Amino acid sequence: MNIRPMRVDDLMGMQACNLQNLPENYTMRYYLYHAMTWPSISYVAEDHKGRIVGYILAKMDEDVQEGGEPRGHVTSMSVLRSYRRLGLAKKLMVQAQEAMANIYRASHVSLHVRKSNRAALALYRDTLGFTVKDIEKGYYADGEDAYSMRLSLIRE
Ligand code: ACO
Repeated sequence: MNIRPMRVDDLMGMQACNLQNLPENYTMRYYLYHAMTWPSISYVAEDHKGRIVGYILAKMDEDVQEGGEPRGHVTSMSVLRSYRRLGLAKKLMVQAQEAMANIYRASHVSLHVRKSNRAALALYRDTLGFTVKDIEKGYYADGEDAYSMRLSLIRE
């Protein structure tokens, strides 16, 4: 399995992967917006035939005040079912974090996750060291709450 930066011609494969794995789906225009605006912080995992089996779609926070610290945000991440528990999500996240810190000087990265998503919570909190900053009531379209999570990217 190969992890590499996302290219525009990966977007269809990423969207297909997202549709299979998550109820939160996005227009191709939104994928393209990420690819054109922050081209170097999203990554894909591909199999030996170049098929997309996982992705992390990331952006920089656009609400930062003048002079404020740049912040990264993970819009979406998923790995196809038969490729799970191989460490792909962890690798995708670490690559995106390094790119956010090195290219944009991001001070931290944030994301939202469903309260019921045990696999993703274990990945973010236990494996990657994210902490829960807030609970956003009714964040998802079906009314489920989200944990708003955050990880500092500043090296001690
Ligand atoms: N149960 C418990 N712990 C888990 C699980 C699980 N099902 N999956 C991962 N972890 C934890 C483990 O500690 C694991 O380490 P280990 O395998 O050595 O025990 C560690 O996370 C690393 O796991 P990876 O292999 O890197 O994770 P994977 O590639 O399987 O992907 C993911 C995890 C992305 C959550 C996958 O299960 C998935 O695609 N789920 C459906 C989509 C989804 O929920 N995406 C996240 C939504 S939130 C967002 O997009 C911001």
